[in-house]
Amino acid sequence: MKVFRDPIALQQELRGLQGSIGFVPTMGALHLGHRTLIEEARGGNDIVVVSIFVNPTQFLEGEDLQSYPRKEEADRRICELSGVDYLFYPNAEVMYGHDEMYIAAPDVRAYVLEGLSRPGHFDGVLTVVLKLFHIVRPTHAYFGKKDAQQLALIEQMVENFFLHVRIVPVDTVRESDGLALSSRNVYLSSEERQEALKISYALKCATKMIAKSVLNTATITQEMEHVLVPLDVEYIAFVNRDFHHIEQVELGNTVILIAARVGTTRLIDNLFV
Ligand code: PAJ
Repeated sequence: MKVFRDPIALQQELRGLQGSIGFVPTMGALHLGHRTLIEEARGGNDIVVVSIFVNPTQFLEGEDLQSYPRKEEADRRICELSGVDYLFYPNAEVMYGHDEMYIAAPDVRAYVLEGLSRPGHFDGVLTVVLKLFHIVRPTHAYFGKKDAQQLALIEQMVENFFLHVRIVPVDTVRESDGLALSSRNVYLSSEERQEALKISYALKCATKMIAKSVLNTATITQEMEHVLVPLDVEYIAFVNRDFHHIEQVELGNTVILIAARVGTTRLIDNLFV
């Protein structure tokens, strides 16, 4: 595995290669969720590139940019063992200059839910992903459904800017008890981790209701609110694939999303139905 810190050097190296390039962008502190994305990329491509960059522009004032877990050595080993060919590990100075242009995320999809709680977050995500796509020029790029809104916006960016890359969505990887894997889970104490399980229970409860043909989203939301007590719930939302709120579940075209705080840790999870 080759490690690059310089975007231009990596761009030049990759330009000289033949074959498909599978790309997995991450912010590091790699867990089984990330590893699953890497495995998918490994299985479907000649060359696998992973980037690790804690992107400052997607963090808002007062968020966890400074304390975000950084595990360079462990991450490097995971990449090596997972058969990654190129690890891109830049710093903020090489990725950003001063007074730069950036991607303005669209109003509807980017300023509801996560974008409402974190205004400007998706501008930062899309800007860095566009930069990374131009550096790596992947044929396939892998994103988790765990970040459903991010995935939808990246798919839109690819369409809007006629980017030549196939976005491959990957199912959310969970612990055996249902907790969705997240780099932020390390912030949870063991009691908080127990409480956090209520988020995936609430999604399971919604699935059961839908299986019994309860499709009214207000009715399902009420039940989910009971399951989530005493968590500090930021939102429970039912949206279609265009991220418009819906009153009736449309099977095959609905995402149920939850954001909640457990102690001071903000967690998100969702379910595609
Ligand atoms: P990060 O949170 O490190 O996530 C990197 C990728 O891993 C994302 O596509 C995310 O959806 C996926 N992922 C995280 N947890 C997962 C899980 N439990 N199961 C499956 N996939 C999971 O998302 C980002 O970084 C950044 O916003 C980034 C796209 C790298 C831009 O900075």
